[in-house]
Amino acid sequence: MNASALPSQVKLVEVGARDGLQNEPGTVPTPVKLGLIERLAIAGLRNIEATAFVSPKWVPQMADHAELMRALPKGGPVRYSALVPNLKGFEAALAAGAEEVAVFGSASEAFSQKNINCSIAESLQRFDDVMAAAAAHGIPVRGYVSCVLGCPYQGEVAPAAVADVAARLHDMGCYEISLGDTIGVGTPEKTKRMLETVLAHVPAGQLAGHYHDTYAQALANVYASLQMGIATFDSSVAGLGGCPYAAGASGNVASEDLVYLLHGLGIDTGVDLDKLVRAGEFICDFLGRATRSRVAQALTAKRRA
Ligand code: HMG
Ligand code: MG
Repeated sequence: MNASALPSQVKLVEVGARDGLQNEPGTVPTPVKLGLIERLAIAGLRNIEATAFVSPKWVPQMADHAELMRALPKGGPVRYSALVPNLKGFEAALAAGAEEVAVFGSASEAFSQKNINCSIAESLQRFDDVMAAAAAHGIPVRGYVSCVLGCPYQGEVAPAAVADVAARLHDMGCYEISLGDTIGVGTPEKTKRMLETVLAHVPAGQLAGHYHDTYAQALANVYASLQMGIATFDSSVAGLGGCPYAAGASGNVASEDLVYLLHGLGIDTGVDLDKLVRAGEFICDFLGRATRSRVAQALTAKRRA
């Protein structure tokens, strides 16, 4: 911790290639995804969620998961991970060379059904199978809890429901639990109340904040989380994304905005902000639309002036 009791270093998990591109109306070609991921790595990101081994019928944007994962460099400084909803997904990820996987559950029963077509209890059983297979192969597993600050289908989600699923994922061996404000409805005080409840079960060092920015609260929620000792955050370059099963949800907090905030607080991220902005420009140029990152907008305008 530094003088203001915030962490002196933060781990960033870049999820733009997965959480961002899964929500694009069209499928981004694999070489373009690889071009983006390479630029993110050059910018200094060391944890990059690259794809999801989910059903191509459900999420066609991730249908190239195996080809993409196989093409990524392994054994280097960057850890490339992939979402896996079940054993079938895990086996496909393993065969493609994934060095880390993430299971994804929900604190909302309704969202669990819509997103992965099963109850929370059933999802935890599936994750048990994934954990056993991953342990046998020495693959670290991250766990997600979605809808930690609200659900698009059932509305309010109790902090106790979040803590329950987070504790289950922690107990089954997930090395880190990412708490997802899937629809971006949280505010700082609500975030703190949720974290207080979860922290009674999972230590801060094993928690991550995954905040979507629908109501422009994501950075404020990051700051509130830093004050609670959270030192890992998920973000998406250019603020790409949303969630295919959460209509109207905006992307994650933009990585550029998050890095600017953290560096301004004197917190080390290992990321070169200018290179990160260039990575965002690369994908936005391809998609033919503007970045959602205010920091990228400002820095690009300054460079071009
Ligand atoms: P299902 O239809 O219930 O599964 O889908 P099933 O076991 O009955 O199998 C049906 C078919 O799917 C079969 O194929 C299976 O082989 C196939 P068929 O015989 O019909 O040809 N299948 C698979 N194919 C590829 N990969 C697999 C797989 N499993 C079964 N792993 C399933 C269940 C979970 C697969 C499906 O519901 C699914 O893929 N859902 C997509 C979920 C998703 O990707 N959501 C977005 C990511 S979550 C998110 O964004 C939130 C997060 O960012 C955090 C936050 O913001 O809060 C993480
Ligand atoms: Mg998300």
